[in-house]
Amino acid sequence: MSNICKNWTEWLKSARFAYMDEQQLKQTLLWLSAIRDEVLNLADLKENQIIADFGCGSGLLGFGVLDKFEDKVELIFSDKFQDCLDECKKILDSTNISSKVSFLKSDICDIKLKDNYLDRALTRSVLVHVLDKQSAFCELYRVLKQRGYYCAFEPIISQNTRYNELTSKEEITDYDEFKRAEDEFMSRSDDPLVNFDADSLKKNIETAGFSDIDLNIKVVSSTYTAQKDSVLLWFTTPPAPNQKTMKERFLDYFDEKKVNNYISEIQQALSNKEICVETKTALIKAGK
Ligand SMILES: C[S@@+](CC[C@H](N)C(=O)[O-])C[C@H]1O[C@@H](n2cnc3c(N)ncnc32)[C@H](O)[C@@H]1O
Repeated sequence: MSNICKNWTEWLKSARFAYMDEQQLKQTLLWLSAIRDEVLNLADLKENQIIADFGCGSGLLGFGVLDKFEDKVELIFSDKFQDCLDECKKILDSTNISSKVSFLKSDICDIKLKDNYLDRALTRSVLVHVLDKQSAFCELYRVLKQRGYYCAFEPIISQNTRYNELTSKEEITDYDEFKRAEDEFMSRSDDPLVNFDADSLKKNIETAGFSDIDLNIKVVSSTYTAQKDSVLLWFTTPPAPNQKTMKERFLDYFDEKKVNNYISEIQQALSNKEICVETKTALIKAGK
């Protein structure tokens, strides 16, 4: 298993950007702040509400809330992992805001809050890392007040553009074998990153009891010039701490020599080529 990245804070600060060149990094940072604003606008936040940022990481959503409302709302930074809460606390300590902010170490599938407590529950790219998404939605429903809202942005990774779609049988040895392997590991039910799609998300939300459901599925495209180094890093950067890299996933099917050859043929085929990569995403608003 990859040891490049050991915890979420490290992954959020550096590993997730490792394969990006300057152009991609700039696009990604702009995209992240646009996503944050989209989720916060959708949530229709108001003064005096009790709001939780679940799977807060380094606090993208939570600090967006504080930027706007400072201590006029009650904000809970919540995460399963202490390093994330420590990171948010460190950032918070560098601001003047302190009252009405709390930290909750909690798995989103077992939230340590009483029933009907929150006005708003927010997540960004959290359920994509949770194996049992149904339990998470049931918990989010339980902790919301009547007329409370859950608002989120989640990527649907299983439907992202794959490198095999940007290359051809003429360029890649054993193209079909590699495609079959990738199709298989990108749809495994025991892998939280890929065990869902737009339909299963909708079903999970309805089953949890939410009534007023707005599930907006979008395809986001980004165009950039591929470089050999960034293609390699894409294969060797973990998609989350303690998750197998793409290279490691292929190594479950083929020996190292064959996988290395595959990677170098993909590098060769894409090097200095302008490519367009699509990511499918879900913007969710669900009311209790
Ligand atoms: C991709 S990061 C997103 C962080 C942050 N929401 C953001 O937008 O930058 C995923 C976050 O989900 C958290 N997480 C993963 N599994 C979780 C679980 N079962 N319960 C709560 N948080 C979880 C991780 O610790 C990490 O902070």
